[in-house]
Amino acid sequence: MSQFGDPNPTHHPFKLFVSRATDHLTKFFKWAVLITLLASLSLVLYSAFTSPTAWFPCPDYHALTPNTTPTPTHLFNETRNVSIGPTNISHIVFGIGGSRNVSIGPTNISHIVFGIGGSAKTWAHRRRYSELWWQPDVTRGYVWLDERPGRRTTSPGKSPPYRVSENWTRFKYSSSQPAVRIARIVLESFRLGLPDVRWFVMGDDDTVFFTDNLVSVLSKYDHHSMYYVGGNSESVEQNVMHSYEMAFGGGGFAISYPLAAELVKVLDGCIDRYYYFYGSDQRVWACVKEIGVSLTIERGFHQIDVRGDAYGLLAAHPVTPLVSFHHLDSVNPLFPGRTRLESLQTLIQAYRVDPVQTLQQSFCHDRKRKWSISVAWGYTAQIYPSLLAEKDLATAMLTFKTWRSWSDGPFTFNTRPMESDLCQQPIIYFLDKVEEVGQGQTLTTYKVNLGKPQKKCGSSITAVQRIAVLASKMDPQELVEGPRRRCLEIGESLKRNTMRVRIRSCKR
Ligand SMILES: *[C@@H]1O[C@H](CO)[C@@H](O)[C@H](O)[C@H]1NC(C)=O
Ligand SMILES: *[C@@H]1O[C@H](CO)[C@@H](O)[C@H](O)[C@H]1NC(C)=O
Ligand SMILES: *[C@@H]1O[C@H](CO)[C@@H](O)[C@H](O)[C@H]1NC(C)=O
Ligand SMILES: *[C@@H]1O[C@H](CO)[C@@H](O)[C@H](O)[C@H]1NC(C)=O
Ligand SMILES: *[C@@H]1O[C@H](CO)[C@@H](O)[C@H](O)[C@H]1NC(C)=O
Ligand SMILES: *[C@@H]1O[C@H](CO)[C@@H](O)[C@H](O)[C@H]1NC(C)=O
Repeated sequence: MSQFGDPNPTHHPFKLFVSRATDHLTKFFKWAVLITLLASLSLVLYSAFTSPTAWFPCPDYHALTPNTTPTPTHLFNETRNVSIGPTNISHIVFGIGGSRNVSIGPTNISHIVFGIGGSAKTWAHRRRYSELWWQPDVTRGYVWLDERPGRRTTSPGKSPPYRVSENWTRFKYSSSQPAVRIARIVLESFRLGLPDVRWFVMGDDDTVFFTDNLVSVLSKYDHHSMYYVGGNSESVEQNVMHSYEMAFGGGGFAISYPLAAELVKVLDGCIDRYYYFYGSDQRVWACVKEIGVSLTIERGFHQIDVRGDAYGLLAAHPVTPLVSFHHLDSVNPLFPGRTRLESLQTLIQAYRVDPVQTLQQSFCHDRKRKWSISVAWGYTAQIYPSLLAEKDLATAMLTFKTWRSWSDGPFTFNTRPMESDLCQQPIIYFLDKVEEVGQGQTLTTYKVNLGKPQKKCGSSITAVQRIAVLASKMDPQELVEGPRRRCLEIGESLKRNTMRVRIRSCKR
């Protein structure tokens, strides 16, 4: 073994020395570097925590809004005196146009400002939907049009008054310029500076609102906080394409005053940033998202992103007040043998008598005759020739298809297929008459709608020509706080081909 040929250099005495020396040097440098690093790090941290200018808000959406007209400062010229300590009513007077009268007490229809997206061209045809729910001198707000409509297009006193949107052509867009205009309605509505507004509610010109229920639902929420309330699409494909977190605009959505105040500051810049979006609701959603507010889903808002017959969906409504309908031009009329408009008018007759109970479903079993009976109040009743589990009765019968691909699903709720055996399908009854009887009671009558093939089944159910439903009116609180489905009871025998049933609160 040769001493010089040692393959391991560290064994060489000189090399060993050099190596030891470099070792020490390296160690020294390592320590020096580490100490310097720690020193500068603590310096950075120190200055970060002591100097306020070292904080950069992130995400800084204000900084990302370069090409926009600044919000007119005169609308925000009141200096808000921010104090610490628990919130009291003196803290929640927001500055707009100098002073803002803010009321206390429960939310009612006067606290809502509606912003309806329309166009001069379609308003003549679609205002009939707004006229179904608009109450002159009660509901506040406007339909926003792209230009002044022809005189025959408007019907002052019956439908929402109109306003022409301010110049929106300065904003970027790639597919839909009207969507830019409609997305800005919340901003233009806010800037009107109307007194005592708690909520801005957006909808399309073919949205039908059930305003009493809208008020019941919104009054659950503290309007002093930031809320974005609405519903998404029934069709999963639509939510995947847009967002589960987006309030679909046709079903309508509500923005609380404080959120609107924040949104107004960023909206114009934000709209330019999302120029490539298709819809106005998508733009609003993206901007709300930037502020950091999530969607609060309320299942009474109905986008009705379905095709065919929405019957199954409406006959098994979730236990929550009905707030809105949309897309009624795209589905079959809700009642057979009536037009779309007549169908809505019929449903609204019932709604006027008992808003909260509208579409609320209750059911029971007739064990003797082995029937299942289901009532969606104010709309329809069904009798099944079998004992169906409650969970099935409460599941939507698949009478419809998805919005985009016309498929059998998936939907954002469960469905059950129609019985393939026609004779196992329920016999269906539709609302015929609404009456108020006695104190706080209603009597609704549903008339059979029997197809020829079903007649051939010879079911004993066909003896039931009508179902008469006696019900006590519902208090909004019943569905707002700890909602529970109501109970159904059947009368003993048929009288003049009429089955009599009673709906009551299950509390004993
Ligand atoms: C804010 O409140 C403080 C103490 O309540 C008061 O001294 C001050 O003048 C107020 N500022 C404005 C702008 O109102
Ligand atoms: C509200 O709180 C502020 C301080 O946070 C206090 O000065 C004021 O008196 C309070 N007002 C009411 C009505 O309690
Ligand atoms: C605030 O704006 C209103 C107009 O909206 C104006 O009359 C008022 O003088 C302004 N106040 C201040 C302090 O600028
Ligand atoms: C606020 O309300 C009071 C009385 O309720 C009224 O006199 C005043 O004009 C209102 N102010 C505004 C700006 O609406
Ligand atoms: C709504 O509530 C306010 C008080 O908060 C009241 O002044 C107003 O008259 C109410 N409007 C309706 C329609 O009940
Ligand atoms: C709207 O804005 C665009 C771009 O700023 C401008 O060219 C157009 O003349 C404006 N239209 C009206 C009606 O003011």
